[in-house]
Amino acid sequence: MESQISKAFSPEDFRANGHQLIDMLADHLIKSQSNDPTPTISRETPDDQLKFWKDDLNSPLPDDPGELFNNILSRSINLYSRRCMGHQVPPPAPAAVLGAMLSSFLNNGSAVYEMGMTGNALEKIITENLGQKFGFGAAASGFVTSGGTLGNLTVLLSARAAVTDVWDHGLVGHNNLAIMVSEESHYSVDRAARIMGLGTEGIIKVPVNAKYQLRTDLLDECLDKAARSGKKVFCVIGCACSTSTGAYDDLQATGDFAKKNSIWFHVDGAHGAATIYSPQYKHLLDGIELADSVIIDFHKMMLTPSLSTAVIYKRASDSYKTFAQKAQYLWADQEKEEWHNSGKRTFECTKPMSILSIYTLMRIYGDALFKQNVEMLFSLAQEFAALIKQNKNFELACEPQSNIVCFRYVSRRSAEDVNKKILQHLLADGRYYIVSTTLNEKPYLRTAIMNPLTRISELAELLDLIDILDL
Ligand SMILES: Cc1ncc(COP(=O)(O)O)c(C=O)c1O
Repeated sequence: MESQISKAFSPEDFRANGHQLIDMLADHLIKSQSNDPTPTISRETPDDQLKFWKDDLNSPLPDDPGELFNNILSRSINLYSRRCMGHQVPPPAPAAVLGAMLSSFLNNGSAVYEMGMTGNALEKIITENLGQKFGFGAAASGFVTSGGTLGNLTVLLSARAAVTDVWDHGLVGHNNLAIMVSEESHYSVDRAARIMGLGTEGIIKVPVNAKYQLRTDLLDECLDKAARSGKKVFCVIGCACSTSTGAYDDLQATGDFAKKNSIWFHVDGAHGAATIYSPQYKHLLDGIELADSVIIDFHKMMLTPSLSTAVIYKRASDSYKTFAQKAQYLWADQEKEEWHNSGKRTFECTKPMSILSIYTLMRIYGDALFKQNVEMLFSLAQEFAALIKQNKNFELACEPQSNIVCFRYVSRRSAEDVNKKILQHLLADGRYYIVSTTLNEKPYLRTAIMNPLTRISELAELLDLIDILDL
């Protein structure tokens, strides 16, 4: 029997299988971009899905992975479909996928410089470049981590480390810490705070206005109330933008409040900080220069595969206080601030070189790619909102500030849960994928327009399709 080891490492098999896969994916792209596209989603029940893959695992080994690749493709949602507009996940630009493949092939981590020489250097360059764009000044720097959730947690830990000696002494004398954030913030902020032991009382949710932006006029009052109940607020977070409706908080007013009260100011720009590339929309980030830290997901508005999040600190030195980890087998000098050993500052020890995807895009297409992506998606959302407003059967939740549009079907006969039924119909139909959210206790349909190839005609057809359901 031929050795499986030599087969697994055969350059010829790699070449043949790789060509086969790239051809399959390129054909998938052609079909997705055609006027006769593949369905966006062919949903099977979880039990049927499980059965299929159990049977697959129990079937004889195939000669080549072609059928396997095909099965995975046809049993996955198609983000390249122009009708896929559910969650905030983009169709990755194909060149970024090649960067990801290179990252997987090299398997260079970055905790330790020698294991990730290129990755560490690129993370420093890109985060510093973004820091400059945000107006942070020369001391800014950062690194890349695995997703916005981990990015927010990392930053909140840094913010707490800036005002306590928690690493060595725990929370003795600091069991009253709290954060302030809009009630529309992503759940990862709430989760991070709970992981850190702040509890419900340590998460002060500031109400939002009619545009779903944090009410900055209430910040002083919330802080006073927190102080009266013995709470010490160490971090205030601005959303740029929020998840449900894509609302941008007033970063200027929030930043001024933070400075006035010597509180760390963090901007969760996971989704919307990419507007920094657009002269037309970067005003939405006015005030971001006041932040002590920002996170931005490359795998949202910057067209890379998941997960790749830049964590940028105004003062790079703050990032070394998060984890004062000693690991003799990794780093010769435990105490020194070394940008090139990124494991000193990140949760991950072994970490994929996800920076390669964004760097590949930057080098091939330049900043223009991100500018165009933001501007196309944001203006499409505005056109879509205009269509919704023209149709008496629909109601817009609020004017979109980004590429997220929330709306409801409000036909005369419709029961309150009609919007949930619409989602079920759409899922069974498979042409479109959209999601839902709850605003002011009412269910809304939610679209995040993430594919820059989506056209207004597809959005108009979506409204027609819902209308025709006549629920
Ligand atoms: C505003 C915001 N912050 C953080 C996150 C979490 O990011 P990730 O999914 O990369 O963990 C999201 C995800 O949608 C988000 O919208």
